[in-house]
Amino acid sequence: MNSIILPPKCLGILGGGQLGMMLALVAKQFGYQVVVLEADANCPASRVADKVIVASYGDNNALDEMASICDVITTEFENVPVHAVEYLNQSTPVYPSASALLIAQNRLKEKTFFRSLGLETANFIAINNATDCVSVQDDFFPAILKTSTLGYDGKGQIRVNSVAELEVAYRQLGGECILEQMVQLASEVSIIVARNNTGSAVYPLIENQHRNGILDVSYIPAKTSADISAKAQQAALVIVDGLNYIGLLTIEFFITTDGRLLINEIAPRPHNSGHITIEVATTSQFEQQLRAVCGLPLGATGLKSKGAMLNLLGDIWLNDSISPEEILLTELPEAKYHSYGKAIAKAGRKMGHISISNTSHEVLVDSITLLKHRLGI
Ligand SMILES: Nc1ncnc2c1ncn2[C@@H]1O[C@H](COP(=O)(O)OP(=O)(O)O)[C@@H](O)[C@H]1O
Ligand SMILES: [Mg+2]
Repeated sequence: MNSIILPPKCLGILGGGQLGMMLALVAKQFGYQVVVLEADANCPASRVADKVIVASYGDNNALDEMASICDVITTEFENVPVHAVEYLNQSTPVYPSASALLIAQNRLKEKTFFRSLGLETANFIAINNATDCVSVQDDFFPAILKTSTLGYDGKGQIRVNSVAELEVAYRQLGGECILEQMVQLASEVSIIVARNNTGSAVYPLIENQHRNGILDVSYIPAKTSADISAKAQQAALVIVDGLNYIGLLTIEFFITTDGRLLINEIAPRPHNSGHITIEVATTSQFEQQLRAVCGLPLGATGLKSKGAMLNLLGDIWLNDSISPEEILLTELPEAKYHSYGKAIAKAGRKMGHISISNTSHEVLVDSITLLKHRLGI
């Protein structure tokens, strides 16, 4: 049971990236105090938070300070060490719980948990040593070897077509891995769901397109059948109930070419694909996260319009032949640019995003195509 935390009480955020920044913006709007724990003093959330405790998650003095100032703590970063969450939770409630994070941080635990709830995933095998590699049957390939922990944006995974390739890939990744059978993807979708002791609320399905393993464009609502949308929403509710979850959770799914909905992974936080909810949903994913962890009634998840979001990676700023801000702010005034305030652009680094609302999916596709063309994406 989470009790109601009202402003001007203090919200703590573990992690100071753009997700923390956008959560802090709505928390400040509502009148909360915001304290962030993050190793980088100039992190995106530092632009908004009242205070940044500059420290690592292993620093108990910093955790003590955070627990003493905050009334409730949440996370914007999926891989916060679980022992730090358990330590903080002894004195200040942390949502989501350590037990939910433990599952979300480990692909093998995650997929085993989905199966235990009767939900379908790609076929998978645990790979913990060289012997596990040779016992994989030939008909399991093509497959994808992933580290069980700490992978993101396509990092920590290697595609393999045979036992021989698997052995090479495992020597590279090592440790606890999971081998997943490749599925034929028709599309990828995600869904955002929130739960606290006032109830659960699930958003419409979002359709995602990736480039080089990183999210590129998201459309809400996804152009899928009503049956698939209903199944995904049902699965989301089953998962948050199964985790006894308090907070906001994102679920990534695969839709296969033969029409099956497979669960890929969960993120115990707002998601890059959900940024479009800021403009088009009655309640943004960040307001919903705040409501969930502060024990407030959850907001309505309906859409005011259809929407699309384009991720803006550092590559755009490394292109000397364009002025990104000029394009983003002048060429399509109805599109809303969000900068994360990161001083240094690097290839693949998420620098910001841009959102477009429209009643027509086709207009959204055309606007995204135009922006990508102008930005050289
Ligand atoms: N079993 C699979 N079959 C087909 N494509 C996959 C499979 N697993 C991952 N992928 C592709 O790789 C991308 C990244 O994998 P994912 O497990 O989501 O890791 P990450 O944590 O990096 O997002 C997915 O979005 C999908 O495009
Ligand atoms: Mg993923």
